[in-house]
Amino acid sequence: MSLVQIEHLSKHYGPKQAVTDVSFSIPQGEILGLLGPNGAGKTTTLRILAGFLPPSSGLVRVAGFDVLTQSLEARRHLGYLPENVPLYTEMTVRDFLAFVARARSLGGGRERRAINNALEECRLEDVRETIIGRLSRGYRQRVGLAQAILHDPDVLVLDEPTVGLDPRQITEIRQLIRQLGERRAIILSSHILPEVSMICRRVVIINEGRVVAEDSPDSLVARLTGGERWSLLVRGPRAAVEETLRAQPYVLDVAAQDAGALTRFLVDCRSEEEVGEALAGLVTGHGWGLRELRTASMSLEDVFLRLTTSESHVEEESGEEEAVHARG
Ligand SMILES: Nc1ncnc2c1ncn2[C@@H]1O[C@H](COP(=O)(O)OP(=O)(O)OP(=O)(O)O)[C@@H](O)[C@H]1O
Ligand SMILES: [Mg+2]
Repeated sequence: MSLVQIEHLSKHYGPKQAVTDVSFSIPQGEILGLLGPNGAGKTTTLRILAGFLPPSSGLVRVAGFDVLTQSLEARRHLGYLPENVPLYTEMTVRDFLAFVARARSLGGGRERRAINNALEECRLEDVRETIIGRLSRGYRQRVGLAQAILHDPDVLVLDEPTVGLDPRQITEIRQLIRQLGERRAIILSSHILPEVSMICRRVVIINEGRVVAEDSPDSLVARLTGGERWSLLVRGPRAAVEETLRAQPYVLDVAAQDAGALTRFLVDCRSEEEVGEALAGLVTGHGWGLRELRTASMSLEDVFLRLTTSESHVEEESGEEEAVHARG
């Protein structure tokens, strides 16, 4: 059974349509990435899932319980890390967790055990008596995770869990999320692409409130490109080389960047046999120098841009996009 089930979810704020006909589900043991640019509807979707906001229409279930009609049971199975975690900065970590435990009416012995488990799972034992206001951002985020898992929920909803953290802290939180996800269902939102491709096996991309793609990071890339990208380092007249490349029937797109005295061409090709050989023959056949020829995979960034930008827009910006890709 899926621990999270969202069917045809829509939400409008007055006349503003924020989420439109979104459907997906998450089984136990899976970490799902909800990816989208600012204003895409991520937080809205997650708040509805967490029971903080009623849907305008559609069905949302957590561990089989309807978030509208069985909200208490649904909430009991769900932990939520909001975009901005409301932490009481003057409390110690332990006192804060005790406060949350009481608010969730975990009584007596259960409370102590829950706090100790959360401290251990989020590796907070060393700072349990520290005032939250004195913790680093990374540690504060762990406190946020600890309050989310205090009642040991099956489902975790994490809204941009790594935002504002430095690279080392991001690595640590990522590891922690992976561990927390082993026996739970987790949904985390992000607009940072490498982020979701690193933690999540499946990604739902939303844009302007609608699901535009759902797949594994790898197959999203493969499906969208429907071909292969080659990188060529060529000594030769840039415009002529580009024009020749573009004229080939198996070439879908070409981007050129200066690389010192040479030019790097990123060439998107239809998947056919011997494309590499054909490209090499083409360049050397014109008497140009071929310094390098290799396959270059498209990044999730490219895929994301293509999915969330209209076709014409992609054309206009493709040069810039390639440049970013090449630097990365
Ligand atoms: N309370 C509200 N009243 C009116 N409009 C809202 C409200 N909350 C969000 N919106 C609008 O709904 C849309 C979706 O917002 P949401 O916060 O869900 O996006 P998001 O994907 O989380 O964005 P971000 O990456 O910036 O956090 C946006 O256009 C936003 O302006
Ligand atoms: Mg948001």
